[in-house]
Amino acid sequence: MSRKYLIAGNWKMNKTATEAVDLIKEINSSVGSQTTVQVCVCPPFTSLAKASELVDQTEVILGAQNMSAHPSGAFTGEISAEMLRDLYVGFVILGHSERRQFYGETNESVNKKVLAAVDNNLKPIYCIGETLEEREAGQTLEIVRSQVREGLENFPANAIDNLVLAYEPVWAIGTGKTATDEMAQEVHADIRKVLVEMFGDSAGASVRILYGGSMKPENAAGLLSQPDVDGGLIGGASLTSRAFSGIVEAALSA
Ligand code: PGA
Repeated sequence: MSRKYLIAGNWKMNKTATEAVDLIKEINSSVGSQTTVQVCVCPPFTSLAKASELVDQTEVILGAQNMSAHPSGAFTGEISAEMLRDLYVGFVILGHSERRQFYGETNESVNKKVLAAVDNNLKPIYCIGETLEEREAGQTLEIVRSQVREGLENFPANAIDNLVLAYEPVWAIGTGKTATDEMAQEVHADIRKVLVEMFGDSAGASVRILYGGSMKPENAAGLLSQPDVDGGLIGGASLTSRAFSGIVEAALSA
């Protein structure tokens, strides 16, 4: 089965709603009308409403960076799946390492969000990855396997086509250090094996696994040429249309 590349921009806590307008317009005009590579932008919550209007009538899909596991109620400061769906958000990044590190998210708490997302027809981009310490201790595969197993516990097999994973080695995020093409491929192939164990062969063949961690136009082609790398989750390089579109171009010619 062939998997369509997905290039998703994780803007993190960058850009006001006013600034977001310019960037989205530029992305729309550079890569927003092609359908070969799926393109997703994930601005902060405050830009989603405006962004939703701007990507309407384009091929660009809107994503969010986090979501509450609860449907509604007394959860000050939180945003629900339904609120995202109402703005035509398609993807939601869940379990990003910054949320695990700074906001106490765990495989278990992220699992609740993943299940709430699919329940509401949102496509989770579930993030996993080892720290430098864990890599140096030779624990990479063990850590990533348990992140996959625990974070995807009870994931409904009939919604598997809505699942995206992002392998982001923590030591490569925002550091300029990228995993080599071979390092990425090794972990991606292992993740796919776990997916096959959990959900069967066809799920293993259809779920997209993105690489994230200092991906940029210069290194994207090599990473994307690996058989189990199905796209990228892009932080820093998603903040200019030139760099972000450059990565989409790399996917177009991969
Ligand atoms: P980076 O971030 O591209 O700036 O390394 C990736 C991410 O955290 O999703």
